[in-house]
Amino acid sequence: MNVLVTGGAGYIGSVTVDRLIARGDTVTVLDNLSHGFRDAVNSSAELIVGDIGDTDAVREVATSRAIDAVIHFAGLISVAESVANPALYMKNNVEHSIRMLEGIRLSGVGQLVFSSSAAVYGVPHEVPIAEDHPKAPSSPYGWTKLAFEQILGSYAHAYDFASVSLRYFNACGSTDRVERHIPETHLIPLILEVAAKKRDHIKVFGDDYDTPDGTCVRDYVHVSDLAEAHLAALDYLAEGGATTAINLGTGSGYSVHEVITAAREATGHDIPSLIDSRRAGDPNTLVASAERAHEVLNWKAETVDLADMITSAWDPTNG
Ligand code: UFG
Repeated sequence: MNVLVTGGAGYIGSVTVDRLIARGDTVTVLDNLSHGFRDAVNSSAELIVGDIGDTDAVREVATSRAIDAVIHFAGLISVAESVANPALYMKNNVEHSIRMLEGIRLSGVGQLVFSSSAAVYGVPHEVPIAEDHPKAPSSPYGWTKLAFEQILGSYAHAYDFASVSLRYFNACGSTDRVERHIPETHLIPLILEVAAKKRDHIKVFGDDYDTPDGTCVRDYVHVSDLAEAHLAALDYLAEGGATTAINLGTGSGYSVHEVITAAREATGHDIPSLIDSRRAGDPNTLVASAERAHEVLNWKAETVDLADMITSAWDPTNG
């Protein structure tokens, strides 16, 4: 299969590209390297450094490479940044995504897997969260993901176009590719920087949430498992599967305090923590119902132990 991967130089994208290459697909990566890294792209993939917002360029790439399907990772990912600068998020995640979508549609591509997010749900009424749970995002980031899901729904209705929106819960862990974001905002990499003595302490953003220990609860899912789900979603579409949205999580939640404790055990280091104020846009609890992923994609997370996820991201030479 010829697969176009937008954002294939990023954290989840690069691991997915590795898996696509390993199974024999031909991969073209389109990434503007604003947040991705050139050396994260598998050397057997073609890297085109360019913008998803250029419809004509996307159309040309998709046509000239005879693309069968697209995986759309490219986008901005910080909840807090989206609260501070919603215009930036609407532009990148919605406007530019629509331009990309038009480019591939005009080239005749009719299948797309989209990196959506648990952020579409907002503060849940019911946990675990099933896909039909009401959507009320707590941040502009979440709204951008929901908006593009809606657009994909309209495309499915009007055109010969099917998509799977994969709603990631909290991606974490590493393969031989390390998680890299500049600036880093994610909990586990920051905790590991404290363990490695690159930071003094980890700030706990709020301990007065309506959760068992007062800190936010998240469903952490290993990046290798996420990558596998993308392959399964491509296969589902290739077999004629209809447009749908699917949660990707393990179904278990861990609080910020629990993650810090697990990291202390996994690394053998003190990890000093300080309670700080809440971070804008953070829902108290996000834990997936993983049933639809199993039913539709025959996918289940293989790594379910938080300590294993943390260990995979911990480079002991750091300590
Ligand atoms: N947190 C801290 N201190 C930190 C960093 C994070 O206490 O220094 C807390 C956050 O407040 C949150 C939890 O740790 O409660 C996890 O935070 P992350 O930043 O690691 O992840 P998020 O839950 O904010 O966001 C991630 C993805 C989003 C996605 C969301 C959906 O980055 O793209 O999961 O679950 F939308």
